[in-house]
Amino acid sequence: MNAATGLQTSASLGQQLVDLAPLIELLLIGAGLALLPAAAVVWRARRQGVRGWPAWQRVLTVATLFLTLDLVIFGAFTRLTDSGLGCPDWPGCYGEMSPFHARADIHAAHEASPTGPVSPTKAWIEMVHRYLATAVGALITGLMLLAWRQRDEPGALSPWWATLTFVWVCVQGAFGALTVTMKLQPLIVTGHLLGALLGVALLTTQARMLDPAPLGEPEGSDARRARWANAGLRRAGFVVLALLTLQVASGAWVSTNYAVLACAEFPTCQGQWWPAMDFEQAFRLWRPLGGDGQGGVISMAGLTAIHMAHRMLAGVVSVALVVFAWRLARWRAQDDGPDRADDRVNDRMNGSTGFSASTREGRMPGVTLVPPVPVWRREARVLALLLLAQIASGLSNVVLGWPLAAALAHTFGAALLVWWLTRLLVLPREQATWRLLLRGQDARVESDTGSHQRPQLPPHQGLHGTASRASVS
Ligand code: HEM
Repeated sequence: MNAATGLQTSASLGQQLVDLAPLIELLLIGAGLALLPAAAVVWRARRQGVRGWPAWQRVLTVATLFLTLDLVIFGAFTRLTDSGLGCPDWPGCYGEMSPFHARADIHAAHEASPTGPVSPTKAWIEMVHRYLATAVGALITGLMLLAWRQRDEPGALSPWWATLTFVWVCVQGAFGALTVTMKLQPLIVTGHLLGALLGVALLTTQARMLDPAPLGEPEGSDARRARWANAGLRRAGFVVLALLTLQVASGAWVSTNYAVLACAEFPTCQGQWWPAMDFEQAFRLWRPLGGDGQGGVISMAGLTAIHMAHRMLAGVVSVALVVFAWRLARWRAQDDGPDRADDRVNDRMNGSTGFSASTREGRMPGVTLVPPVPVWRREARVLALLLLAQIASGLSNVVLGWPLAAALAHTFGAALLVWWLTRLLVLPREQATWRLLLRGQDARVESDTGSHQRPQLPPHQGLHGTASRASVS
């Protein structure tokens, strides 16, 4: 079957399989589900004394990010339990809003084919995945509406970010529908997983831009932020992120082609260092599940090539991540400004030269020191640990015969790596503006009883926010 006929067949198949009748009910369930985490974070944030739209925007964005990470794991669970076609139509289940309402059809399908894709359990797993996805969609829609309504609030993020996320969730929903209607076509399912991680990156970016936390622990400053913004290492980080994305795509290609069991040992495969592999067939992208793209069935050599390509790329990505983490752990915010001058004074006091001396106890009266400690040490450690866990879960998939827990951990690990690296590379808000905004908010509260003015801050520049108490992640 060539690509054009494949498309036509799938399109006509898709028309029969899409039944929009239960859409409204599904949206209501999703919105109801979204209210639960939203209510929980709103309650917690209120107790913490969160004030002002940018702080609320961050709280809700972080809540949506958490729910999206849950959705990524649940998506993997759906695939790994073979529940992707548990309801063979979309968006409902046999045209109903829940498997409970469709139980007669589900039981009939299950009895006709007990080992087939439909069973009551699989139908529930698939539908819970859709409910969760709708909940994420509801939160993102709410965030977009609020972002436009509050766009003139000082410190608010540009509403176009929320709009972009809304577009993303619609496209991702369409991919979810195609996953079902195109019968788990590997390219579509791979796109769906990549899309999920793109959503994680998008939400992380927004949460980080609204982040009141200083850049690097324990101290941060706008000078440091500016230096990180222009650092060559940060630019290299984007290259590492691109490599990681490629590795995620290659992993998704392994799992959506069910090539995991092509090699059951490590580091060799089928008892050889270089087993028989057909890379041309392996990367023929447009083909049905289990097919070779030319009307036949995918060969063992094709599956082996898919599996081995992921292993080899993992080597390259791991080296890139280790080097990046190592350099990150050593990165110091050096400059020739006042901080640097303080360092020299401090170094002289300690009778030594170099940045390390300024981290010692000695202090010149009246001089404020910003010690040039490595600011990313903790982040670098976490990155290395995440990579280690990812390699461990990947190896467990191979040598332990693909246990569910290892497969889930591997998907979740990939999402966490994307989250952490994105968080590192996106710049948090500027401290100076943040402090100004804080003062402004206090002034506004007082102005309810007095005559204070609102601060003159530029709206939606995307880098400002409010109280550190807002930090929930
Ligand atoms: C930087 C390191 C790695 C990253 C980011 C990564 C990422 C991924 C991703 C995103 C998937 C798809 C998961 C899904 O569809 O739910 C995957 C699948 C897989 N990866 Fe990796 N991987 C890495 C290293 C490794 C290593 C070292 C191995 C072992 C040799 C490995 C073996 C596998 C296997 C066997 C699968 C298929 C699992 C399944 O079908 O459920 N990975 N990988």
